[in-house]
Amino acid sequence: MKILTLGNDILRQKAEKITDINDEIAAAASQMLEIIKRDKGVGLAGPQIGFMKRIFVVHIEGDEKRVFINPSLLETSVETTKYEEGCLSIPGIYANVVRAETIKIQAWNIKGRPFTLEASGLLARVIQHEYDHLEGVLFLDYIPEKKREKLVEKFEKANKK
Ligand code: NI
Repeated sequence: MKILTLGNDILRQKAEKITDINDEIAAAASQMLEIIKRDKGVGLAGPQIGFMKRIFVVHIEGDEKRVFINPSLLETSVETTKYEEGCLSIPGIYANVVRAETIKIQAWNIKGRPFTLEASGLLARVIQHEYDHLEGVLFLDYIPEKKREKLVEKFEKANKK
């Protein structure tokens, strides 16, 4: 399964709401969890594999596998933290990103049950990063323009065919 990378317009599109949590969605979720295991990531969103639905998965070492379907970010704290991020769609590029320190999210799990989760630290960060993918937003978008241009250039150089 191929991960779409920076420059692919699909990554900039908004994902669609899931109307039925069925076998197709369950299959996508387990595939996505397999990919993050294979590629040593901590999260992956549908659009990154061209699956334009509002779903993302998170699996941080030492934590359970988490699936978020039709998520809504209910709260984001005023307090922020800065931490280095990467993205499976922008391999080899890392940069500090400022994000809310704690969040509250509501979503549905793979069994079709709604849940609410309060998170902080790395989990909160990964959730915000993956949520952004559903909106066509990438972590580079938060980087000041000059630095971002340099990072994009670096990425393009490293990925030239
Ligand atoms: Ni990402």
